[in-house]
Amino acid sequence: MLLSRDAQGQPVAIRREDYTAPAWWIDTVDLTFDLEPAKTRVLNKMQVRRNPEVPAEPLRLHGDELNLARVLVNGQGASFRMEGSELVLDGLPDAFALEIFTTCCPAKNTKLMGLFVSQDTFFTQCEAEGFRRITYFLDRPDVMASYSVLLRADKAQYPVLLSNGNLVEEGDLPEGRHFTRWVDPFKKPSYLFALVAGKLVSRSQRIKARNGREHLLQVYVRAGDLDKTEHAMRSLVNSIVWDELRFGLPLDLDRFMIVATSDFNMGAMENKGLNIFNTKYVLASQATATDADFANIESVVGHEYFHNWTGDRVTCRDWFQLSLKEGLTVFRDQEFSMDLCAEPSARAVKRIEDVRVLRSAQFPEDAGPMAHPVRPDSYIEISNFYTVTIYEKGAEVVRMMQTLVGRAGFTRGMQLYFDRHDGQAVTCDDFAQAIADANPDSELARLLPQFKRWYSQAGTPRLAATGQWDAQAGRYTLQLTQSCPPTPGQEHKQPFVIPVNIGLVAADGRALALQLEGEPAPQGESRTLVLSQASEQFVFTGLSAEPVPSILRGFSAPVILEFDFSDAQLLTLLAHDGDPFNRWEAAQRLGLRAALAAIRDPQHAAGTPVLSAQFLDAMREVLRHPQLDAAFKELVLTLPTEGYIAEQLDVVDPQRVHAVREAMRLQLATALAADWQWAFEENSDTGAYSPDPASAGRRALAGLALTQLCLAARESGDPVWPGKTLQRFKNAGNMTDRVNALSALVVAGHPLAQQALARFHALFKDEALVIDKWFALQAGAPDRGGDVLPLVRQLMKHPDFSIKNPNRARSVIFSYCSANPGAFHRPDAAGYVWWSERVIELDAINPQVAARLARAMDRWSKLAEPYRTAAREAIARVAAKPELSKDTLEVVTRALA
Ligand code: PHE
Ligand code: ZN
Repeated sequence: MLLSRDAQGQPVAIRREDYTAPAWWIDTVDLTFDLEPAKTRVLNKMQVRRNPEVPAEPLRLHGDELNLARVLVNGQGASFRMEGSELVLDGLPDAFALEIFTTCCPAKNTKLMGLFVSQDTFFTQCEAEGFRRITYFLDRPDVMASYSVLLRADKAQYPVLLSNGNLVEEGDLPEGRHFTRWVDPFKKPSYLFALVAGKLVSRSQRIKARNGREHLLQVYVRAGDLDKTEHAMRSLVNSIVWDELRFGLPLDLDRFMIVATSDFNMGAMENKGLNIFNTKYVLASQATATDADFANIESVVGHEYFHNWTGDRVTCRDWFQLSLKEGLTVFRDQEFSMDLCAEPSARAVKRIEDVRVLRSAQFPEDAGPMAHPVRPDSYIEISNFYTVTIYEKGAEVVRMMQTLVGRAGFTRGMQLYFDRHDGQAVTCDDFAQAIADANPDSELARLLPQFKRWYSQAGTPRLAATGQWDAQAGRYTLQLTQSCPPTPGQEHKQPFVIPVNIGLVAADGRALALQLEGEPAPQGESRTLVLSQASEQFVFTGLSAEPVPSILRGFSAPVILEFDFSDAQLLTLLAHDGDPFNRWEAAQRLGLRAALAAIRDPQHAAGTPVLSAQFLDAMREVLRHPQLDAAFKELVLTLPTEGYIAEQLDVVDPQRVHAVREAMRLQLATALAADWQWAFEENSDTGAYSPDPASAGRRALAGLALTQLCLAARESGDPVWPGKTLQRFKNAGNMTDRVNALSALVVAGHPLAQQALARFHALFKDEALVIDKWFALQAGAPDRGGDVLPLVRQLMKHPDFSIKNPNRARSVIFSYCSANPGAFHRPDAAGYVWWSERVIELDAINPQVAARLARAMDRWSKLAEPYRTAAREAIARVAAKPELSKDTLEVVTRALA
């Protein structure tokens, strides 16, 4: 086991190639907790045995911020030594009982790792390395043990005492205390341990699985929140049904619990049988949660539930394999949400939304200082590697496997994976091997070693395509060429295996039959080409006119497609492509093209139009289209984000990007004013509230229309739409309509916004998740003359603000630093200075949250002056701070490297 700091106290990198199997196994763990906020006592009795397969070594147990009282080996006081934070025992027998007694202080645990208190309730968070903050242990995922847990606490203050598995015993104790004992029937790594103790209430439901087995499902929340748990419970039931149906994976527990806490670093955690969730991903009512919140709850509940198999039953050998469970489980939750869609068009909308996240968050990560492969080679702090690359790009890698072996083939591969590895801690190689072995005749099996470069090479590949039309022969030759830019530590890349879904569209919009040279007959109108060389040609025959290629349909690979489309070709795809993803993509390309032209043109002056009449007409056509869904229209009519535009530039002047995009938005608002009005009226009444994709899409489009109408009204000074918007805000029957109306006023900077904000706060002052929205809306508002930073400073002094609560910190600080580029990148650098102060302030409280905030500056080196120098100085100021956590230190060190 490596010490995580060297002799100088500098953090040491952990390297994947240094992995060795543990020298000891821990087979059983018997934990007794006496829960007190100021001093919790933990008795940990383990059965330990030597691993005969590796050279003998002392037993080194991890610990962090623990007070050690006693160590017994086979019941006798044992000699031990401390090496840094590790407890080291020498001269041990081959198998023995080890008993360790420690105390810790949950009340002072602001890191929210290990055992902590939130609103008078105890919670744990052990992934990745939090269990060592509860007791000394081999806190690594390949050590799997059987757990038995005895919880003791004051009965009045902590009436509910939960842990993993089954409740086997409960009763009263002297002095008003009580106990419960839990036994987990499955072996698990320590990171899946959990306990909860406090005043909670639950919604319970009994279900019978297809095999006849009965299960108790419970969602635990604070007393006032029970009426907001229906959607989470429904999502859980849907998840259970789906996993059985799609993958044949049943619920393996008698009891499955979800508990919500308002203090949580992440979204949720898949502890075996006892998932712990951020309230944001549990609580929803039509009055307090938006459609997006409902959709997020469905996918996060699904995600954590699906981990029960992909993560818990089969877990990771080491943390470099994190994407083994996370990429796969994101893929599964994406498929789950898509399969719940009644309409195929809603599936496409979900796919576009997922790709948007990938391109706006993961592509920049892959191009920046924190770029790392889906299976990283080294880390200083594993918490920093819960990234969009591990999660979202990891999911794309799994999706490509499914594309290469087909849906049925993928299900077969999953079955083989569980047949081989149930109960084990394994690697990404094991997963890919199982999928390939179950599909021996597939392209995946043929190209497996090369395919696995997706796990080992970082960076977003570029896919350059060119088309050549031979009118005489009726042949269209598509040349595909791939490359991948260097990333930290990886100068040169080998070619990837890239599945390229493709179709050909005639100029009049017809889908053309696809016949490759040498094939006896056409094979459908959409197919998958597999690019494995640096460059390959694909020749389509039997064509009567030059086609428009629709390349990378459904975003079949996480690459940047470069093709020199003419405007006319893009307009054809926008109007006719049978693939909704590429239809949307055509509009994004047109919008991006216009934005980049204006940004790069030194002559381009503020106030001059950016968008062509042709583009505006095409947008109008989509908006007015009689067949297209509202949700799809909303996506097409939303311009690429400032972040996405910035990624396309070598040197970024964030103020210029902001100004140009705002100009585009305004132009779209005014040129289509009548159409927006029509769209609003068509979609403004969605009837009795239901968060289903179709009605959510109509609300989204109505919301966008309202924003556009308020923007146009600001230009013209027209009071009608702002007035109507305020009315809609006041009368809204659900949170989506209400927050959309509020946001329309805030975005337009209309004076009525102040009144609406005050009313919103008064209405929802007791709803923490809604107050988060209230903060976020203001911190994310468009900047007018540098007014957002002073406002953000004010918000931090608001009585409802607390930097210790991660959701609240995110709602103000992250909304400003990471989601409001036009306000954050100030020529006077005050935004950066403020950022550095907040990183340092947060680092002393909660290093994980601080390190996330530190990532707001990832792309500093692309900035134009004076931003670049000022940003670098701000990062250097953070890096120079003594006693920085290794979380934050790793991020800023990489940024400056
Ligand atoms: N494993 C959790 C998930 O993806 C995320 C998480 C990581 C939560 C680390 C807490 C700490 O579902
Ligand atoms: Zn996960």
